[in-house]
Amino acid sequence: MSITEAEQKAKARAEVLRKTLHYHNRRYFVYDDPEISDAEYDRLMQELIALETAYPEIAAPDSPTSRVGSAPLDKFDTIAHHVPMLSLEKGFDTADILAFDQRVARILKTTDPIRYTVEPKVDGVAVSLVYQDGILVSGATRGDGFQGELITPNVKTIGSIPLVLQSVEDIKIPDFIDVRGEVYMTMADFKALNQIRLNQGLPLFANPRNASAGSLRQLDSTITAQRPLKMVIYGVGRTDLLKVNSHAQTIRILKALGFPANPHVETEISVNEVIGYFKRIDELRKTLDYEIDGIVVKVDRYDLQERLGSTSRSPRWAIAVKFKAMEEQTRVNDIVVQVGRTGALTPVAVLEPVSIGGVMVSRASLHNEDEVRKKDVRVGDTVLVRRAGDVIPEVVKVIPAYRDGSQLLFQMPSQCPVCSSTVVRFKDEAATRCVNAGCPAQLKGNLLHFSSKGALDIDGLGKKLVDQLVETGLVRSIEDIFRLDVDTLRQLDRMGRKSAENLVQAIYKGKKVPLSRFLYGLGIRHVGAHAAKLLAARYETIDALAAAEKEDIEAIEQVGPIMAEAVRAYFSMPENLKTIEDMQQLGLEILPETGHQKVSGRLRGLSFVLTGTLFSMTRKMATGKIEAAGGKVTGSVSAQTDYVVAGESPGSKIEQARRKNVSVIDELQLMELLREPEGE
Ligand code: IVH
Repeated sequence: MSITEAEQKAKARAEVLRKTLHYHNRRYFVYDDPEISDAEYDRLMQELIALETAYPEIAAPDSPTSRVGSAPLDKFDTIAHHVPMLSLEKGFDTADILAFDQRVARILKTTDPIRYTVEPKVDGVAVSLVYQDGILVSGATRGDGFQGELITPNVKTIGSIPLVLQSVEDIKIPDFIDVRGEVYMTMADFKALNQIRLNQGLPLFANPRNASAGSLRQLDSTITAQRPLKMVIYGVGRTDLLKVNSHAQTIRILKALGFPANPHVETEISVNEVIGYFKRIDELRKTLDYEIDGIVVKVDRYDLQERLGSTSRSPRWAIAVKFKAMEEQTRVNDIVVQVGRTGALTPVAVLEPVSIGGVMVSRASLHNEDEVRKKDVRVGDTVLVRRAGDVIPEVVKVIPAYRDGSQLLFQMPSQCPVCSSTVVRFKDEAATRCVNAGCPAQLKGNLLHFSSKGALDIDGLGKKLVDQLVETGLVRSIEDIFRLDVDTLRQLDRMGRKSAENLVQAIYKGKKVPLSRFLYGLGIRHVGAHAAKLLAARYETIDALAAAEKEDIEAIEQVGPIMAEAVRAYFSMPENLKTIEDMQQLGLEILPETGHQKVSGRLRGLSFVLTGTLFSMTRKMATGKIEAAGGKVTGSVSAQTDYVVAGESPGSKIEQARRKNVSVIDELQLMELLREPEGE
């Protein structure tokens, strides 16, 4: 085959792959109804990446491969917005909504009721997206309102932002359109991101908005690609291009074109309905998994918007009505130290109780010693405390004006406040730890985690009971909970027969547990609920995981070296293996994951290492083929490796293979292994 022929084939295949990937992206993000598994999506993506890498000239600006990020920039260029990105005038209560309505009517000189479209004001970062001929050509921040920073590669990594627009029904795609919206992060994603940063000793983000802004303004878009960013659209810059005459219609069209809109938008309502909406959304806010700081009320009709016009700062046809702050000022009465299940010592500010957004707050986590120093929080300080939904309240900052010299510096104790053993702070770690494995605080924390909802889900085994069980010595290790019976439990304070029976029943039920939940419950460092699912999807049994090599674990998509090492370390400790064995003896049944995709195919269970340059395909493509056939590819040669595939100019892996007695094969032999025998 001549080069051009190969190139043409690659080009044709790439086009098919791009279409397919755009289609499945839509199914996932727009219709919330995926047709293929994430693994299959990744496989198609990998194939396209391999093609575009091998034939750079076939790359396309709208390729879904830009979702994974691209080469880092030196700096951001600036771009002028076609229409300025204005801010909004603020109101704070229903009186302000009425006043706004009256002002609008006065300027328009009308007594007809005005219709409004109302939207939650999502607390994130404003972004403008420009599409030319249906292709996303630029993404920019608000900047000073007139010029923003060009962050195109970064916005392309956000899955819910369409890279190409598909015309639907009778909607024609305009040659040009600039869509405006808010990039944000859910509370759960924000917490998970900060937890990872805490584990890695990195500075924490103060709130989801800062986390979104920080993630979006990365010169290296591959970092942005790893951040869980989302977007909602709330309008367009140029309102004349969609050939509609109201904001409500614009939102409808944008939704139809596949843009993510907030589900709580309401269109064409009266001012009284706006007031009802404001109150309802303020209530709803407590249950939402993302932060909103108010609602935005917009005059719906474009002709009226035009007549109302804008000031240099904000349009006269819209207002942001803000909710009561989720931040309040209070005094730090003390700083105490809690010991968690990992042995980490967490300084906690004991606050003068204060109501924040309707919830009384009396404690706030200070995370670790460095955070206390950075924020310079002292006992006696007046501080700003913030609560966000169900996130643990946090001290935002000290208000220095209230310092009078009586404030006391915090000192991390040198001994564990629970078991008095000496604490340590490891190099490269932000946490100070009690390393006494027998520390009752760790046992309590582990028990609570083990019985929590995401793990064994043992109803009734809450904090008070765990405290009692550990303090009375009835439970000295995790597995002891499987030894509890009604008579033993009845020795506890205020434990009636019925409660004891219920608890024993709940423990009995918890004994049958899917592998992922059991893994999560073990509380292995860096293994949260999601990671546990990844592990359980790869290994069918706990024994298979316990026997896996670090490289093998690391080969799982989304699993990094730190987690792989933590898993390896956990299963290399004999006492951990003994605990699991004891639990099984006591009746624990670890169930295979429902929906576990049994790996099948010719290469099932075989492990490969690739080295050198292959002639008919890239290593990525070879990896895809091996995995599709049920095999796996790892980075380094171990005793578990079945084959090392050697291409041209192979590296030292050949030598390692020889030493470890692993078969070395060439590319042709690999193709032979991959070939489906005829008639099968
Ligand atoms: S409309 C000219 N709608 O709030 C109209 N803004 O203070 C400009 N925001 O920079 C914005 N949700 O970042 C609008 N539904 C919404 C919004 C919203 C959040 C943010 C946006 C803007 C700021 C205005």
